[in-house]
Amino acid sequence: MRALTVVPGERDSLEVSELPEPEPGPGDLLVDGIAVGVCGTDKDIVAGEYGEAPGTGHRLVLGHESLGRVRQAPTGSGFRPGDLVAGVVRRPDPEPCGACAHGEFDMCRNGRYTERGIKGHHGYASERWTVDADYAVRVDDELGELGVLVEPASVVAKAWEQIDRIGARSWFEPARVLVTGAGPIGLLAALLATQRAGADLDVHVLDQVTDGPKPELVTGLGATYHHRGLDDVADRIRPDVIVEATGAGPVVLDAMRRNAACGIVCLTGVSSGGRRFEIDAGALNRAIVLENDVVFGSVNANLRHYRLATEALAKADPAWLAGVITRRVPLAEAATAFTTRRDDVKVVLTLSDQPS
Ligand code: BGC
Repeated sequence: MRALTVVPGERDSLEVSELPEPEPGPGDLLVDGIAVGVCGTDKDIVAGEYGEAPGTGHRLVLGHESLGRVRQAPTGSGFRPGDLVAGVVRRPDPEPCGACAHGEFDMCRNGRYTERGIKGHHGYASERWTVDADYAVRVDDELGELGVLVEPASVVAKAWEQIDRIGARSWFEPARVLVTGAGPIGLLAALLATQRAGADLDVHVLDQVTDGPKPELVTGLGATYHHRGLDDVADRIRPDVIVEATGAGPVVLDAMRRNAACGIVCLTGVSSGGRRFEIDAGALNRAIVLENDVVFGSVNANLRHYRLATEALAKADPAWLAGVITRRVPLAEAATAFTTRRDDVKVVLTLSDQPS
């Protein structure tokens, strides 16, 4: 069968490889791959800047935003052939640390976790894959291909859960949220903001572009789109919560500086380092301390967040979700998926010729 592989650390090593059919172990599902989403992490791996092959092998099967259809399921697994599923990305470290031992592998303390398609574990970009049924999540059949958004949605479901937990340190009724970056993570963060139960949250999204699909996707959520820079928006709306999804240094710093009193700033973008800025660390510290602000990072997701993600996607307008997927690339032409095009939001690699 065909799979998309790279040699981590080696630029231009991406290829569609011919691999033996996977053999499901006891407790594993055998799954026909439908699609994988492509994100910044995948691009970093393809650029040779990130990623780790499993064991002593030197190639890594890519793909962590998965969607497939169960071909074979062990009895008692809770799955049946034909079910639409997404595989979880992270696996606990072998030790395991306290967090991993409690099912919170997204909060692993010792960094020895593995991640499918990223770190020490083959991914899901193959025509067939296996997954331990305990690390598979059922996707509503009605979502069809849109189920490929479960993984990025799980990342923002975790981010919002953490924001709420931090907010609970005192009275917390956020009125305005600003999301920086209208890529898939930013857009899904805005979607979840609009879905918050009982909350009348004023949702704003900031990006650089003035045309293409992003402004319309934002207004399609009933949110407000901005493109003039964080200072400009923040002065006007004083956001109680900022979800930062660009990873761009100056935006990250502005987000830390320009939130409301008791502001919560959730950083989700993985930056590529190397760019330096001069900052007044004392003034920044003073602003954070005197306002009881919290700036925190959030990455990955555990099973609880995957379930929240499938619920959020099931509640969303399918036409809006469909608008987030702006390009589909067949596996044979996979390399073109990793070159960013102007109007890309979510690019998806299709693994099968069958309709999902
Ligand atoms: C994935 C996360 C993963 C992170 C770091 C992201 O792209 O969505 O699941 O933990 O990369 O490897």
